[in-house]
Amino acid sequence: MADTAVRVLLLNGPNLNLLGSRDPQQYGSVTLAEVERRVTALGAELGAEVECAQSNHEGVMVEHIHRARELDGVVFNPGALAHYSIALRDAIDAVETPCVEVHISNVYAREPFRHTSVTAPVVQGYIAGCGVAGYELGLRAVLARIGERQA
Ligand code: DQA
Repeated sequence: MADTAVRVLLLNGPNLNLLGSRDPQQYGSVTLAEVERRVTALGAELGAEVECAQSNHEGVMVEHIHRARELDGVVFNPGALAHYSIALRDAIDAVETPCVEVHISNVYAREPFRHTSVTAPVVQGYIAGCGVAGYELGLRAVLARIGERQA
């Protein structure tokens, strides 16, 4: 791929390494490796280089967001951190890189504690309840945001 390719980070938070076996009624049966393969393949089609990362640790997630200053965009599922991590929210707010938040499940149809996202007010797009297809939609959305910035 040319050096000029758009670079996007696909970032997954706590417990998303368990995709495929964790609560299939909410999250389906597709593994994280398969999600990463699909998003990377779509990126290649659309001219974007996708880097993938997952962490179960809040501080590591914050550092990934800081590192995204060198990239063009972020598609991320913060997992439960969305509901309470002010540190992650502040990290997203501190970087200029457009971030699109993805939740596999429809968090608004679930327990009340999942109805709050502290990260949602500082992202450029938000997708929930579309299953793992939400990650591919998230990639398209962040690429659209990047395009708007470059226009
Ligand atoms: C999730 C929803 C969160 O409430 C939950 O803690 C997760 C996954 C989702 O993708 O639907 O870990 O972010």
